Amino acid sequence: MKGCGLPAAWASQPQWCVLETGFGLGLNFLVTWQAWKADPLRPRLLHFVSTEAFPASADDVLRSAATHPELVPFAEQLQRQLWGLLPGFHRLTFEDGRVLLTLCIGDAKAMLREQSFEADSVYLDGFSPQRNPDIWDLHTFKAVARCCRRGTRVATWTVARSVRDALAQCGFVVKKTTGIPPKRDNLQGEYNPAWEPKRRCSRRGAGKPPAAS
Ligand SMILES: C[S@@+](CC[C@H](N)C(=O)[O-])C[C@H]1O[C@@H](n2cnc3c(N)ncnc32)[C@H](O)[C@@H]1O
Repeated sequence: MKGCGLPAAWASQPQWCVLETGFGLGLNFLVTWQAWKADPLRPRLLHFVSTEAFPASADDVLRSAATHPELVPFAEQLQRQLWGLLPGFHRLTFEDGRVLLTLCIGDAKAMLREQSFEADSVYLDGFSPQRNPDIWDLHTFKAVARCCRRGTRVATWTVARSVRDALAQCGFVVKKTTGIPPKRDNLQGEYNPAWEPKRRCSRRGAGKPPAAS
């Protein structure tokens, strides 16, 4: 969140959309939801869109949150809705519809190519680019970029050269920043291409969240 300037960046905005590339055990979602709930200046609507090729079980999600007691009440609500995650798009609703989670079950680049929405923040969170190259490659970042507006901020824990180069090629201006221990560096950036991007995603205000089943 800090890498994307949150929660300050969403203060008093009507809605905020976070795109994440690897849902995993849902910890980033839970932390973002918790920060939203604690923030008196929170946007009215938080929409979290996340891709996951190999969804974890609901029980594993709850178990992993147990080491962060402050997240457990959120994880319990998530657990109750995490079932039937077949490949495709799934919409989960919390906080009386003020927190939406769209889970895109499948390969990140294939799923994002099918979607039309505008992200305000992007968390890139695959496993390491060496062992998990698909989620970090140029084609995935192109699919991510197509869901960004100028100024969308991006953050990740890896500073691998291949990731920095591919992000730059897709119009992200990135820089290394001080990492969260044990990482020495993290990566932060912003979508700000030197060209005028072709728009395939809907703009804010045209604004339906992405479709889900
Ligand atoms: C580091 S974990 C994500 C942790 C997660 N963000 C959290 O907060 O708990 C990386 C995730 O990316 C998923 N993944 C790997 N390759 C993928 C791909 N090509 N498309 C979508 N998800 C992928 C893995 O299954 C794994 O769950």
